Amino acid sequence: SKAPLRVAVTGAAGQIGYSLLFRIASGEMLGKDQPVILQLLDLPQAQQAVKGVIMELDDCAFPLLAGAFTTDDPAVAFKDADVCLLVGARPRSKGMERADLLTANGAIFTVQGKAIAENAKEDVKVLVVGNPCNTNAYIARAAAIKVGRTNPANYHGMLRLDHNRALTQLAQKTGRPVSSLKQLVVWGNHSPSMYADYRFVTSNGDSVKALINDPVWNNDVFLPTVGKRGAAIIEARGLSSAASAANAAIDHIRDWVLGSDEWVTLGVPSDGSYGIPEGIVFGFPCKCSGGKYEIIQGLEIDEYSRGKINLTLKELEDERAAVASML
Ligand code: NAI
Repeated sequence: SKAPLRVAVTGAAGQIGYSLLFRIASGEMLGKDQPVILQLLDLPQAQQAVKGVIMELDDCAFPLLAGAFTTDDPAVAFKDADVCLLVGARPRSKGMERADLLTANGAIFTVQGKAIAENAKEDVKVLVVGNPCNTNAYIARAAAIKVGRTNPANYHGMLRLDHNRALTQLAQKTGRPVSSLKQLVVWGNHSPSMYADYRFVTSNGDSVKALINDPVWNNDVFLPTVGKRGAAIIEARGLSSAASAANAAIDHIRDWVLGSDEWVTLGVPSDGSYGIPEGIVFGFPCKCSGGKYEIIQGLEIDEYSRGKINLTLKELEDERAAVASML
């Protein structure tokens, strides 16, 4: 049998944690033959709640769960970690400006990026879920690069929820099963500025753009529905998306670790592809195999798409400028 992999999860007492941890422990993320050890991080005042979650994990008697502990010390949580899911973040409180939100999170993610680089496995895979996730990933990566040791390409932000949201909108519009849809990409920031791009999507060989054949739907319905979905969930549920966010995190890591024949959207540090400045964490179309990913090259970017990509890039460049003094 395989040696256990160590999965660190921050914000473990939160609502995403409550959906995420059980699915990791059941083998949905790293494989049905892969034991896991859960290394949970949360704030001191949340330790009691995390202990309760561990009691419930115990009570599931998951065959693949080889251990679980909670701590409020990042160095302990990230020790020898193979995968780090950074879910905990500082939410926007009443009257908080965007700049204050960015710097409050900057303080968290500089500490955590450094602790990961100092303590985790050298080939650790890091996915930031906590918002603003692209810039939080950018900050963690910058802090990790100062330490060295870990792979700077392995600090990701989560665009997969946007990708999955867009897939279902396309399936519902075309009447085609979601599993038949290939070659979707969501470019840019996890925010309403993201650009869900279905120009390349096919369903059993048919062009989905041709199937939809509705020029106003993209701008008037599709992009606003996907971009504002988070707000719509809060409006309907009174709480932000949690189970779907946890599901997207599982999808992102599973595809990265176990491979994916299909395109997936990953928020990855740019290598300069498509004119995105190096280091900006940006949604790109990717392929994964052997535990590695690569950005799919050579896609045509028409004038409309370039405009959309520039808008979401501008937002990320502004966020980068707002945190520059912290790095
Ligand atoms: P929550 O408020 O239920 O839980 C957050 C948890 O993080 C709490 O237990 C809190 O104590 C903990 N935490 C805060 N600061 C921490 C720190 N420095 N270290 C460790 N733990 C810390 O929030 P929820 O609903 O679980 O969401 C978590 C984050 O995920 C939020 O930032 C949310 O905006 C983001 N999110 C991102 C999505 C995406 O697509 N990228 C989708 C949905 C949510």
